[in-house]
Amino acid sequence: METFSSIDAMRAWCRQQTRSGDTIGLVPTMGALHEGHLSLVQAATSSCDRCVTTIFVNPTQFAAGEDLDQYPRPLEDDLAMLRDAGVDAVFLPNTKEMYPGGPEQKSTSVQPSAVALPLEGLHRPDHFVGVATVVMKLFQAVPSDRAFFGRKDFQQLCVIEHMVRDLNLATEVVPCEIIRESDGLAMSSRNRYLSDDERQRALCISRSLAQVERAFAEGNRDSQHLESILVDHLGDCDSVDYAVVVDRETLAPVSAISKNVVALVAARVGATRLIDNRELYVD
Ligand code: PAJ
Repeated sequence: METFSSIDAMRAWCRQQTRSGDTIGLVPTMGALHEGHLSLVQAATSSCDRCVTTIFVNPTQFAAGEDLDQYPRPLEDDLAMLRDAGVDAVFLPNTKEMYPGGPEQKSTSVQPSAVALPLEGLHRPDHFVGVATVVMKLFQAVPSDRAFFGRKDFQQLCVIEHMVRDLNLATEVVPCEIIRESDGLAMSSRNRYLSDDERQRALCISRSLAQVERAFAEGNRDSQHLESILVDHLGDCDSVDYAVVVDRETLAPVSAISKNVVALVAARVGATRLIDNRELYVD
């Protein structure tokens, strides 16, 4: 497994692979890897000749007061996991390499589509400008045929799909399923912040979504009622930023459900903010 910290060297390696006829699958991450990340790697290695994973804790997607400094950075463990998973190359840039003009948003940035405005957009106002900009930059540093993203960060996936469509980018976005612990908790690098008690209480998030899925399967199509089921089951969280059932394409509110929707939750357990979701399909 090769590692690169310079954009020029990373790009040269990709060009070499492409020239020799190999396709490249890209898995962007912020490290602190778990089975969720490895499922993206698995999808990339099985559908592309070469897999490149990036590890970069992107400062521009964290607001002041968020967990940028505490964000876990177990680099040696991450590299061992990627080596075992059969990754061909890892891109590990530092902040100066990624943001030569400085990480402050005075440099050129990507303005995401309106799908970035609700939900996370209301609670983390500049977050998706930071995400869209860094993903665009990673796409330039690691020119790839396909890029793999998890449905766990559902709104992020929408933002990136819109960016690729609106800016005519050549990389195909491949969405991947949410990987959960055996008790249902969605895997997340932030789960390692949870104490035993918080870890137990955090289960109410996936349970609330499972309850909504059950009500939906039983034919309930009233989004307000489904949202009240979510809220009723989130009592073990310390606060809830949102618990909604919205249009799956636009993330706009719906009343009577006639199209596919997604139930999304963002809630805090102790000091840790967790997100999860469940897509609900109308047959
Ligand atoms: P990070 O949180 O490290 O996640 C990297 C990728 O792993 C994302 O596509 C995310 O959706 C996916 N992922 C995380 N947990 C998952 C799970 N339980 N099941 C399936 N996929 C999961 O998301 C980011 O980093 C950053 O915003 C990034 C896109 C790298 C830009 O900085």
